Amino acid sequence: MSTALIDFSYVIASILFIFGLKRLGKAETARQGNLISAIGMFLAIVATLLSKEVVNFQWIAVGVIAGTVVGVIAARSVQMTSMPEMVALLNGLGGISSLLVGWAEYHAAHDTSTFTAVAIYLAVLIGGITFTGSLLAYAKLSEKISGAPMLFPGQQIVNGLIVIGILACGVLFAMDPVGGQNYFFAAVGASFVFGILAVAPIGGADMPVVISLLNSYSGLAACAAGFIILNNVLIVAGALVGASGIILTNIMCKAMNRSLSNVLFSGFGAAGASKSTSYKGEAKPISPEDAYLVLENASSVVFVPGYGMAVAQAQHVVRELGDLLAENGCDVRYAIHPVAGRMPGHMNVLLAEANVPYEQLVEPEDVNPTMETVDVTVVIGANDVVNPAAREDKSSPLYGMPIINVDKAKTCIVLKRSMKPGFAGVDNPLFFGENTRMLFGDAKASISALVAEFKS
Ligand code: TAP
Repeated sequence: MSTALIDFSYVIASILFIFGLKRLGKAETARQGNLISAIGMFLAIVATLLSKEVVNFQWIAVGVIAGTVVGVIAARSVQMTSMPEMVALLNGLGGISSLLVGWAEYHAAHDTSTFTAVAIYLAVLIGGITFTGSLLAYAKLSEKISGAPMLFPGQQIVNGLIVIGILACGVLFAMDPVGGQNYFFAAVGASFVFGILAVAPIGGADMPVVISLLNSYSGLAACAAGFIILNNVLIVAGALVGASGIILTNIMCKAMNRSLSNVLFSGFGAAGASKSTSYKGEAKPISPEDAYLVLENASSVVFVPGYGMAVAQAQHVVRELGDLLAENGCDVRYAIHPVAGRMPGHMNVLLAEANVPYEQLVEPEDVNPTMETVDVTVVIGANDVVNPAAREDKSSPLYGMPIINVDKAKTCIVLKRSMKPGFAGVDNPLFFGENTRMLFGDAKASISALVAEFKS
């Protein structure tokens, strides 16, 4: 295939990526966006395989077969609730791939220009940081290690020294790529260590920011790899992932009401009290029969889903209950917090899967001002995102994070299995609120019981 035709295919693929991304921005068009992007990727892969620069098809075939087998098994076996850690792992694999491309190109030493040396250095550096940072994020998210921030005295100084070392090695390597082998290997080692040190102090409710940031890094590393092998579509795709990851990071920071530097350098809950307040009081349990009576008389209900809805896979019965309430003349809305669940858009995906009408979905900033007029809020396995301590308790690690003000409704029914805290490990005074009733049990079983009451 001629170079012009390959470049033309890359341009078409890039356009498809951009259109795909645009359509991914809205729930109604997201499936179509995914398909358009996949077609773009298919075109890019075919064009690359037809390029004259491909030197060995056997190894490509081995890679494709091995990757397909592992990918299909992983995608089929992973639970929906484990998706976030799977995404973290995939980000890490993207990072290590870019590192290996840089390393291989350095080893082959086809081009020793300063431009290529800088691209190799950046691909290796960002790829290495993304790899170990993502592995640590995976371990934290899958609860293989504690999700709490890991802080030690002088951490900022150690980080600062590593950054200075990385910059110095980069300059020396770029000045003499052939003789600067030691600087190259020092950078590989430093990137691995820095990835761990950068993610270690981040924990608790700040993890969404880290995941989107690592996602962005994996794109930037791929972009640098694209400059090394001068592949236009890799440069464009990497830049798109890098830019969209940064935008998502910004959205997550806004959702947490924290600046990026605050998330990266302060450690969740490290500023403020060393231990969060534990709230005392009497939680008031409610039976499904009584909860039904409250709901049956309500003229407005706001559902607030959280991670527990994903665990219980309760989205379908939740929609069924929503439909029954609407038939009963009730105004039904679903309020989605941007960091509810364990990955960006987690709740949107689940509710879309259950065909909840998009017009019933509302943002916290739209629903909060009307909360006093809402008859019942139904909290389905959400905890941190409805914790009033974030609004009221300055000593709480969650303080400052915008929440959905479910406690301000006339009645709040909380569905969960126990009094345990949520992901951030912070106690929730909502459970002891005057107008709060606890419907204990698995969310799917509890909602099914409510549906059964409506139908009987
Ligand atoms: P969480 O605060 O994690 O609370 C989830 C609650 O669901 C738990 O209190 C749990 O209580 C309950 N639950 C679990 N399984 C259940 C079941 N089968 N039936 C009923 N309830 C069940 O969830 P959230 O409010 O959605 O907040 C998300 C948290 O995760 C935030 O701290 C956020 O920062 C963090 N995070 C988010 C992301 C993204 S991008 N969304 C990524 C990483 C971390 P019981 O055990 O008592 O049932």
